[in-house]
Amino acid sequence: MKKQYITGLLFLGMAGVSCDDGRLYEDQIAIPEAGRVAKLTGQLTGVGNWAEGYDVVVAGFAENNDFAIITKDVQVSADGQVSTILSGIPDEVTEVEFCVTNRLRKRILTFRQADLNTTDTIRLEVGTMDVGMYATIQEQLFNTTCVSCHGASTFAGGGLYLTSGKSYDALMGKPSQLVEGMLLVNPGKAASSLLYQTIDTDISTTWRQDHSNMVMSPTLKGVVRDWINEEKER
Ligand code: HEC
Repeated sequence: MKKQYITGLLFLGMAGVSCDDGRLYEDQIAIPEAGRVAKLTGQLTGVGNWAEGYDVVVAGFAENNDFAIITKDVQVSADGQVSTILSGIPDEVTEVEFCVTNRLRKRILTFRQADLNTTDTIRLEVGTMDVGMYATIQEQLFNTTCVSCHGASTFAGGGLYLTSGKSYDALMGKPSQLVEGMLLVNPGKAASSLLYQTIDTDISTTWRQDHSNMVMSPTLKGVVRDWINEEKER
C-alpha cells in the first residue's frame, strides 16, 4: 500500500515538471516522414483573395500530369511573411511548384518551379510577390499577350490600356468603344463582359484586330471568368 502511494506521488511530480525533457512523450514524437522536403519562403500579398475553389499551394507533380500528388496550402502571417513546408514528397514527384490548383488539385497556373537538383531541402525563395487573383491575370495574361497592343508602346488598341496599374480602372464597369451598350467588365457577370467575350468567343472577328485565338488556355480563361463573376463594383 505504502509503496503504491509513493509511486503515485512520484508520477505526479514527474508529470508536473518534465514536460520539456521529452522522456514521457517518447511514444508520441513524430518519426520524420520519408521523402523529400520543400520549403517556400517569401513576402506575399493576395494569397487569400482567390475565388472559391482555387488554392495557392506548394505542390508536387509527376511528369506529364497536371494533377498534384501532394499539396500544402500557403499560409501567410499578419506581416505577409510566408514559410511553408511541404514534406514527405514521394519519389514519383518530378516537379515541385509554387502554384494555384483547383478543387481537384489540378494545376491552374504556376508562379515558380523549384530546382530539384539538390540533395538538401528543395528551396523556393520567391521574394516579394503579389499572387492575388487580379495581379496574376495582369502578369500571366495582360503582360504576356495583350500589352504589346494595349498600352506598353505608344499604341493602345481601341483606346484600351491593359498595362499594370491602369488595366483595372480601364476595365471595371467601363463601356466598350466597339460594342454598344456593353461593359468591358460587368462585375459579377462574366458572360456579359466584353473582356471575357473577347478571349472566349469570336465576337472580335469583325474588328480591326481579330482576338479569337489569342488565348488558348481554358484554365486561364476560367480564371478570368471566375474573377469577373466574384468581382463586386467598388
Ligand atoms: C496585335 C494587337 C493586339 C493584341 C495583341 C491585343 N489586342 Fe485587343 N485590340 C486591338 C485593337 C487594334 C483593338 C481595336 C479594334 C478596332 O478598333 O476595331 C482592340 C480592342 C480590344 C477590346 C475592345 C475595347 C473596347 O472598348 O471595345 C478589348 C476588350 C481587347 N482588345 C482586349 C484584348 C485582350 C484581353 C488582349 C490580350 C489577350 C488583347 N486585346 C490583345 C489590338 C490588339
